[in-house]
Amino acid sequence: TIQKVIARQVFDSRANPTVEVDIVLEGGAIGRGTVPSGASKGLYEALELRDGDTSNLGGKSVHKAIQNIQTILAPALIGKDATKQSEIDELMVSLDGTENKSRLGANAILGCSMAVARAAAQQMGLPLFRYLGGANAKIIPVPMVQIIGGGAHAANSIDVQDFLVIPMQAASFEDGFAQVVNVYNATKRVFERHGKPLAIADEGGFWPTAFKTNEEGLQLLTEGILEAGYTPGKEICIALDIASSEFYDKERGTYRFELEDREFTREAFVDLICSWVENYSIISIEDGCSELDWEGSALLTKRLGTKIQLIGDDLFTTRIDRIAKGIELHACNSVLIKMNQIGTITETLDAIEFTKNHGYLPVVSARSGETEDDTIVHLAIASNAGQLKVGSVARTERLVKWNECIRMEQQLGDGAVYPSGALFSRVIH
Ligand code: PGA
Ligand code: ZN
Repeated sequence: TIQKVIARQVFDSRANPTVEVDIVLEGGAIGRGTVPSGASKGLYEALELRDGDTSNLGGKSVHKAIQNIQTILAPALIGKDATKQSEIDELMVSLDGTENKSRLGANAILGCSMAVARAAAQQMGLPLFRYLGGANAKIIPVPMVQIIGGGAHAANSIDVQDFLVIPMQAASFEDGFAQVVNVYNATKRVFERHGKPLAIADEGGFWPTAFKTNEEGLQLLTEGILEAGYTPGKEICIALDIASSEFYDKERGTYRFELEDREFTREAFVDLICSWVENYSIISIEDGCSELDWEGSALLTKRLGTKIQLIGDDLFTTRIDRIAKGIELHACNSVLIKMNQIGTITETLDAIEFTKNHGYLPVVSARSGETEDDTIVHLAIASNAGQLKVGSVARTERLVKWNECIRMEQQLGDGAVYPSGALFSRVIH
C-alpha cells in the first residue's frame, strides 16, 4: 500500500530541471522515478509541464508539476495497492482528463508511474524487468548507439541528428557493446586525423565541428568502423536518426538542409535517403520524413521498407492511434518508444505490445535529456522489445543504462536471449 509520495525538482544531463518522485510503501519499500526530457520533441507528444517563469531557470522549472503531484496525485495514490500498476496509471490519466496530459503534466504523471513500479518491484523482491514482464521477460536488447551527434543535440551545426551504429553479429549484448565501444574510440582517432576538434554533443557522441555536408557524418563513421577493424555491413551497420521534422517546411512541403543550403521536395529527399542507403551500410533510418508528412513516410517505406528498418519517432510519439495510422498507410516498419511521449508505464507497455502484434519492431529509447534513472532498460527487457537506443557510450546518464544491460544479461545467465542482427529479418526480406 502506498503510504507516502515525495516529489522534488532535480536536474537532468543538460542541467535542465526535471521531476523526481519517491514512493514509499507500508512495510518500507521505496521506488524512485526521475523523468527524462527531449530537445527535438514531437508535435504530438504528451505535455511536459514547465512553469514558464523566465526569471526562474529560464522558464524551465517544474514547480507546478510538483505541486500537482502533491495536491492532486498524491492524495489519490495514498492507500492504493502499488502492485496494481495499470489501475494506478488509469486513475492518474483520468485525474488529468485531457488527451495530452496537459492539466497535470506528463512529467508529473510519469514520475509517479515509474516510482510506483519500482516500489512494487522492491516490495516483491523482484528486478523491475521481472516484475513488469513476468516469467517470459528474457530478451536483452540490441544496442543502437550514437557515435556522432547533430541536429538539436549539437546546436544545429549539422541537420541530421544522430549517426549511430548497431552490432549485427555479436553473440551477446556484452560482446556487441564492446564492439561499439571500439568503434567510438576508433572514430575519435578518425576525427583527430581529420583535424576535427574533439567535443561531445548532448548524448555523448562526437560534436560535428566544421562539417561541410551531412554526408560527411556517414563518411567519418564508415572510416571509424573500418579503423576499429570491422567491415561495415558485416559486424557493424550504420543507423541514422534524421529527425527531419526539425527541418521540414510545412508551408512549402519541403526539407531544408541549412548546412548545405539545399532544399528538397519530398520526392527528392526520399531519393537522397535512398542514395545514402545504396552507398553506406545503413540498416536503420528514423524519422526520414516529417511527422506532418505521412505521404513521405509511406513513399520512403515503399522504397526501403523491405530493405532496412524504418523507425517512426516524432511520427508516432508512442501513441497507439498514430501507430495504427502508420500501419494502415504502410508508413515505417518500426516504432520508437519513449515513456514520456505518452506519460505512463502502462501506456508505454501497451504501445510496445501493439507495435509487436502488428509486425512492427519496437525500439525503446531514452531522451536527449536524461538522468541516472535506468527504468527504460527494464522496460525493454520486460517487454522483450529487442532494441534499445540510449545515446552514446560516453556520459554517465547513458552508461547507467548500458551498464544495466550488461548486469541484467549476466543475471539472467543461460535464461538471457540476445537476438542480434537476426532481429531485422522480421522486416527485411
Ligand atoms: P530527443 O531526441 O530526446 O531530443 O527528442 C531523441 C530522438 O529524437 O530520438
Ligand atoms: Zn528521434
